[in-house]
Amino acid sequence: MAAAKKAKLAIVGVGNMGSNHCATVGSISNLELVAVCDTDRERADEIAAKHDVQAFYSHKDLLKAKVADAVMVATPHYDHTTIGIDVLKAGLHLLVEKPISVHKADCQKLIRAHKNKKQVFSAMFNQRTDPHYIKLKELIEGGELGKITRINWIITNWFRSQRYYDSGGWRATWGGEGGGVLLNQCPHQLDLMTWLFGEPETVRADIAIGKYHKIEVEDEVTAYLTYKSGATGIFITSTGEAPGTNRLEVTGTRGKVIIEKGSGLEFVRNEIPMDEFCKTSEKSFAPPPRWNINIPIKGHGDQHKGILQNFADAITKGAKLIAPAEEGIKSVELANAMLYSGIQDVKVKMPLSAPAYQKHLKKLIDNSTFVKKTVTKKAASDDFASSF
Ligand SMILES: NC(=O)c1ccc[n+]([C@@H]2O[C@H](COP(=O)([O-])OP(=O)(O)OC[C@H]3O[C@@H](n4cnc5c(N)ncnc54)[C@H](O)[C@@H]3O)[C@@H](O)[C@H]2O)c1
Repeated sequence: MAAAKKAKLAIVGVGNMGSNHCATVGSISNLELVAVCDTDRERADEIAAKHDVQAFYSHKDLLKAKVADAVMVATPHYDHTTIGIDVLKAGLHLLVEKPISVHKADCQKLIRAHKNKKQVFSAMFNQRTDPHYIKLKELIEGGELGKITRINWIITNWFRSQRYYDSGGWRATWGGEGGGVLLNQCPHQLDLMTWLFGEPETVRADIAIGKYHKIEVEDEVTAYLTYKSGATGIFITSTGEAPGTNRLEVTGTRGKVIIEKGSGLEFVRNEIPMDEFCKTSEKSFAPPPRWNINIPIKGHGDQHKGILQNFADAITKGAKLIAPAEEGIKSVELANAMLYSGIQDVKVKMPLSAPAYQKHLKKLIDNSTFVKKTVTKKAASDDFASSF
């Protein structure tokens, strides 16, 4: 029997996340790690030796060597655009870490470079593999919740210490990362927000810069969103709260879904839709009678492995992508809109102007006086796996 087709993968940027992906590739039968690339030579050599693959110190040399069919980019954020464009221009398949770029204009540039649609172009939105959110999407699309009226997401369990922010020169700076919690931790939830509910019509946010940490970017956000359908949404996040919360509450005319970390999916269904009951009830105070529906959900899906597997399947078998990278522009635009609203103290009408945001970000970078202190010593214990 002929051996199953395998895609040859190179990973660019093998820090915390990239090295984690290197290990995951070994568990995917139609994906083979053939090279790693990192501008930190020692790091590249160390990870290459660990996996017995070739090391490169520049992505351009990697592309010239033609050793891979596909490249994953897991570098600091701004390089997702530049390296991603080079990978696409070289004709290789591309899997880019979140966020696909730092700002909307860069997303547009990256997406425009995807000319050959035979090249698979995916993004690491691993939380799309979580069965909780998959079920919620099914319930929404199947009309089980009726018309969505309110979305509340409190996602404050992204606690990060000062040590975390000091661990990389690029982290939590306008010039290196392009933002804080919205650009690093929340791209997952912002992606799910747009995947599940579409894009809002307006965005109004309060953001706090360096409220809990010595950083020049946001570590707390409270945003208010309005949707064309009439629904409203609240999005609250922080990296300075402990204990934190991860609670998504979605209310529709036919009921409510609550997803809270560790406690599954709770579905409370109105026997009569609220809008109908409101018009016809003989009573003044009683809400519609309801059922509590138990939807058993096991685990949180295959996460990073699920997206890597899907990427390999898309290359070798033409599988449909779970997270097409083109969709990654939506979460970046939402993050940009929240930052713009919070810093400029305005309500943003979507779509956000890409050039206006780029100009705004450039000003933040140009006016930065923040002196970043970086700790290079390795952390006492490796707790990276508990970070997502
Ligand atoms: N999907 C997830 O759950 C998840 C979790 C954590 C981080 N991430 C994402 O992964 C990416 C990397 O984050 P991290 O925490 O691993 O950062 P990191 O700082 O630990 O690693 C980045 C690595 O990239 C290397 N690098 C920098 N510029 C480079 C270049 N031009 N070419 C090659 N290598 C280069 C650095 O030397 C470093 O080793 C970010 O986009 C981050 O948002 C995703």
